[in-house]
Amino acid sequence: MKRFSITDFIAKKQAGQKIAMLTAYDSFTAALLDEAGIESILVGDSLGNVMLGYETTVPVTLEEMLHHTKTVSRGCKRALIVGDMPFLTYHTGVAEALRNAGRFLQEGGAQAVKIEGGKERAETVRAMVEAGIPVMGHLGLTPQSIHQLGGFKVQGRSEEAAQKLLEDALALEAAGAFAVVLECVPAALAAKLTQALRIPTIGIGGGNECDGQVLVTHDMLGIFAKPPKFVKKFAQLREPMIQAFQEYKKEVEAKVFPGPEQSY
Ligand code: KIV
Repeated sequence: MKRFSITDFIAKKQAGQKIAMLTAYDSFTAALLDEAGIESILVGDSLGNVMLGYETTVPVTLEEMLHHTKTVSRGCKRALIVGDMPFLTYHTGVAEALRNAGRFLQEGGAQAVKIEGGKERAETVRAMVEAGIPVMGHLGLTPQSIHQLGGFKVQGRSEEAAQKLLEDALALEAAGAFAVVLECVPAALAAKLTQALRIPTIGIGGGNECDGQVLVTHDMLGIFAKPPKFVKKFAQLREPMIQAFQEYKKEVEAKVFPGPEQSY
């Protein structure tokens, strides 16, 4: 079975076909996404919020990301795995960024990395690509800069901010990024960026004109009570999960479980 590659990403855009990407942080979910034919799995630093109980992605460490990227790569044979580089692992110099990015491929088993930021990251992206590390950009709402942005807000609303996003996207493309995530960007602006770029745009809260979409899997499965506006719940798993846990507790207390069928 051939793994989806970065050239397949670009070919899909050229053929006008959409790309479906979801997050995973463990082998089990990665295997299910693979079975469902999802083209790319993001081991997002949303790991921090979803799995590790942090309020933001800022505390997530490189070692935590590598641990979960390894887990995902053991569960998945077909999807392109993108490892999200956490806060301050690509900001302090190109050489360090390169070494850290390389660990996602060498140790984590990912095929690409994702970093947040625009023009200011172009030199880093270029160095990674020259070293053979495919890079996905991430613009718009960049959660690692949440304290700088002043909260989870839609980005690129003013003409000036929209122009900056366009320049950032073009700079990432020129530096060799193979795709760019557009998070919480007005749909019309995301459509404009999608038209301006040769590489695919992957939207999350960026409307349906992007070349692909990404969501946090736990959000789209309806596991969290209040996901962001841009999430569609494709399943409602929260309630059945709680019900199953309650039912289990009841049966344990009443000595109904384990019954004869579950006993030796
Ligand atoms: O960390 C993450 O999951 C992400 C996406 C939601 C784009 O960066």
